[in-house]
Order: sequence, then C-alpha cells, then structure tokens
Amino acid sequence: KQQHPTVCGLPLKYVSLVTLAVQNAALSIVMHYSRVSTPQSQSYSPASAVLLNELLKGLISFFIALARTPAVASQPWHRMSFSQIISALPYPWTPPFLSLCADVLSTDCWKLSIPALLYVIQNSLQFVAVSNLPVASFQVTYQLKILTTAAFSVALLRRRLTPAKWVSLLFLALGVGIVQIQSQTTTREHAVGSAHDSAPNVMSPLKGFAAVTLACFTSGLAGVYFEMVLKGNNTDLWVRNVQLALFSLVPALLPVMYASNTHSHPFRHFTPSAWATVAIQVLGGLVTAVVIKYSDNIMKGFATSLSIILSFLASVALFDFRITPSFVLGASTVLGATWVYNRPEGGEPLLAIVTIPG
Ligand code: C5P
Repeated sequence: KQQHPTVCGLPLKYVSLVTLAVQNAALSIVMHYSRVSTPQSQSYSPASAVLLNELLKGLISFFIALARTPAVASQPWHRMSFSQIISALPYPWTPPFLSLCADVLSTDCWKLSIPALLYVIQNSLQFVAVSNLPVASFQVTYQLKILTTAAFSVALLRRRLTPAKWVSLLFLALGVGIVQIQSQTTTREHAVGSAHDSAPNVMSPLKGFAAVTLACFTSGLAGVYFEMVLKGNNTDLWVRNVQLALFSLVPALLPVMYASNTHSHPFRHFTPSAWATVAIQVLGGLVTAVVIKYSDNIMKGFATSLSIILSFLASVALFDFRITPSFVLGASTVLGATWVYNRPEGGEPLLAIVTIPG
C-alpha cells in the first residue's frame, strides 16, 4: 500500500529531501573544520566518531520503531499523568519491547550486513578524504556518486534510464563540479589573511582523491542495496535501520579497539566541532533512510546537488560572496539537468532539444 506521511501538514518526501540538502551543506564544512582546526597530535579519532555515529543512529531508530508499535502508538500519552506515563512505558521485559527485538533479529536481518559494512568503510573514507582535501575539491569529486548510484540502480534494481536521463545525470555531476570549483576560488580569495590559511595539518591530495573515489563506489552500492532490501518487503524502515546499525557495530568497533592500544581513551580530544560533526552525521543517516524509502537514491543525488547552489547563494547573502559567470553556468547546468531528468517520459527526445539551432 502507498503511504504519504506528512510532517506539520507537509509531505514527508519533500521535507526529507530539503532537510538532506541542508544537512549535506553543513556536514562537509563542519567536518572539515573539525579536522583541520587542531594540530594532528590533538585531533579526535575518526574511528570513534564512526562508532558513535552508528551507536546513536541505532538507538534513535530503535526508539522510533518502539514508538510506532501499536501498543505504544495507541496510548493517549498527551492526556496521561507522569505516573501513568512511567507505568505505561515499554520496559525491556514487556511484550512491545521483546517483540521489537524479535523483529530486529528476524531471519532476514543478515541482508543488512552488506550495506552496513559498506557504510562503515564509506564513513571512514570520508574522514580520510576531508582531512586531505580542501572542502570544495572533496565536494566536487564526491559528486561522482551520482553516476555510481545510477549505475547500481540500473544493475541491481533493474531501473531503466533513458539516454536522456543518463545525459542529464552526467550534466548534473558536471554542473556541480563547475559550481564548486568556482566557489573554491571565491573562498580562497576570501580566506586571504584569515587565521585558517595556515591550517596546522598537512594534506595529501592524492590520498584524499583515492579515498573520495572509493567512497563514491561504496555510497552508490550501499544506498542501492539498502533500497533493494527496504523495498523488497514490508519490514518497517526503522527496524531495518536498527539492523543496519547492529551490523555496523562490529566493523566500527574493531578499529576503535585496535586504536585504544595507542590512545588513552576513545573519546579524547572530542572538541565541540567533533561532537557537532557526529550529530550532523547522525541526522544525515536518519534522513537518508527516509529519503531512500519515500523517494529513491537518484532523487537523493538531485537534492544534494541543489543544496550546493543554495549554500553558495546563502554565502552571497551572508558573507558578501560575488556571483561569477562560472557560478551561473554551473547552476544553470544543474537546474537544466534536474529539469530534463524530471520531464515526464515520452516527451520530446533530448537530442531534439540539443540540436534545435541546427
Ligand atoms: O553519501 P551518502 O548519501 O551515500 O551517505 C549516506 C550516509 O547515510 C552514510 O553516512 C550512511 O552511514 C548513512 N545511512 C544511514 N542509514 C541508512 C542509510 C544511510 O545511516 N539507512
């Protein structure tokens, strides 16, 4: 059955796409700052951040799944007194809690082990990439995931993409690249003389590019695999998320245990910006799952691309950035690609548009 849930009267589908766009813009900036703002000897452990991310996402998803069980959802919580609420809460030994645990550990839960491992690898690679590349270069190269996602959607979900849609995806990636290369130039002009010019960490672009390219493959494969499992049957999204987090714990825990031989404790040097990075990542993970459920992975690519334009326009308004011809070119390419991709099937062939002047 088709569900159309809403948040404050707005369709969840669009709320989640917009939230993801804003989250994406915030993450690369906060994450990069959290890595380069302190000398390497005092920087927090990315392995601990990845583990914390999975733990928090798993816990939040578990409580959302619990709140959605009929026994809990049917209670008139807003009309109950504090003592009534306490006695009605589903404690770990009560049926709603136990049956949710049984759902989580159901026979097909192993299916989530594949995206779980891929996402842990991806989340770790992202730290390597962000620590070794300027924000804009990271974002530009990370757009390749639009293409890997489309390729995996075709291969695994048997989604059919017309040549026009392929061309529009290519232009989407290209347009985002143009916007970001130009925003990098503008940022550099603005950064002249600022304290962050002499970032205390030495970057290694080759390592950064290798990490980000690999992360594009895990992103595409994991996202599409999760979509395949999610849409394969009626299991609740939040149960799937708990399963994903559970299977992530082992690969996420191993590096932390390995590193704990050398570091005093896993959460040493967790600055406010490190906590903010984890919080934004947790939000991103939860919203990504909602986007995959109510839209799909390819739409997710469009949402994040449009976010790049929005964040640049916000910088124009807030930080006095200048709009340049290359921004206009890149932004128009992105908007054009979005329009072509979302045109109803059976419209004029793209070639007719491309060859109009001839
Ligand atoms: O870049 P991309 O969109 O592939 O990133 C997806 C992010 O969302 C990853 O950090 C992954 O851990 C997270 N995620 C999640 N739960 C899901 C799907 C994705 O936490 N169900």
